[in-house]
Amino acid sequence: MVSRKELFDECMGILSSAGIDTARFDTLCIFQDMLSDQNPLFLPQEAVPEDIEKHIRQLTELRSQNRPLQYLLGQWEFFGYPIKVGEGVLIPRPDTETLVEQVLDICRENGLRAPKIADLCSGSGCIAIALKKQLPEAEVTAVEVSEKALSYLRENVRLNKADINIIAGDVLKKETQQQLSGLDIIVSNPPYLTADEMRSLQTEVTYEPAVALFGGDDGLGFYRAITELWRDSLKKGGYLAFEFGDGQHEAVSQILKKYSFGSIALRRDGGGIIRTAAAIKTGDTIIRYSDNSELHRNNTEE
Ligand SMILES: C[S@@+](CC[C@H](N)C(=O)[O-])C[C@H]1O[C@@H](n2cnc3c(N)ncnc32)[C@H](O)[C@@H]1O
Repeated sequence: MVSRKELFDECMGILSSAGIDTARFDTLCIFQDMLSDQNPLFLPQEAVPEDIEKHIRQLTELRSQNRPLQYLLGQWEFFGYPIKVGEGVLIPRPDTETLVEQVLDICRENGLRAPKIADLCSGSGCIAIALKKQLPEAEVTAVEVSEKALSYLRENVRLNKADINIIAGDVLKKETQQQLSGLDIIVSNPPYLTADEMRSLQTEVTYEPAVALFGGDDGLGFYRAITELWRDSLKKGGYLAFEFGDGQHEAVSQILKKYSFGSIALRRDGGGIIRTAAAIKTGDTIIRYSDNSELHRNNTEE
């Protein structure tokens, strides 16, 4: 039988040799999960049971082939909540916690204890779940189109005992948008990679679904479509909050302005990248002409 320490060093060595930068962290996560022990090296000489050793070796082998650690473990934490993940659903990123924090700050600052919130492109449901857990009186709806993602979303809602409405639908379609009205907040982390970025993905990311990543040639397709289409589902004075990629903040701000969203507040993630924007729906009505030109008219009746 092999000891925990011997096996740990061997697995970490395999990952390091395979070029995994986070070899120690990844090995620790695998050991914590497989041994159900947060501090698996506390007893370094403890023998690893054979069946667990076999499983640890299998996971290490897959990880050395650049399979995402989160898919191998099957669960990851987001905002302190457990989220089940696997192929077919985007792995929740720490950057996205910035978006949740921004929405929570908006609620705090505006005294919104029971806001009506929609999370568009919900994926695993991580944003919707974190918001519902933090704002128990909120009415939260998650909208997602992918069947695979929806099955994780449903499982995560159950796992976290979060009372969330789920709409299986395409956020780009009017029939989906029309199912929700009078919203205080729309939050979304839509697909935002460009065609160029899709061609040069880090190996781990190639295991994640393209439908969760690709945002059209310039990466901005969902921002244009959601801002234009879902504006009507928001109350006047309601908020639209987006996450986006590095360098997209100006383009997203322009889209928000085009559709009469004001007071745009940008926020940086933990790595210092401008990652999110939240903006308020103003009272302007947009009148669209057949030649596609637009007139923004201040609407006091809304
Ligand atoms: C970038 S992922 C974000 C997932 C999750 N909100 C998060 O932050 O981890 C985008 C999600 O949008 C979903 N999606 C893509 N196109 C969609 C559409 N037309 N309607 C609804 N959801 C869509 C994908 O399946 C994916 O789950």
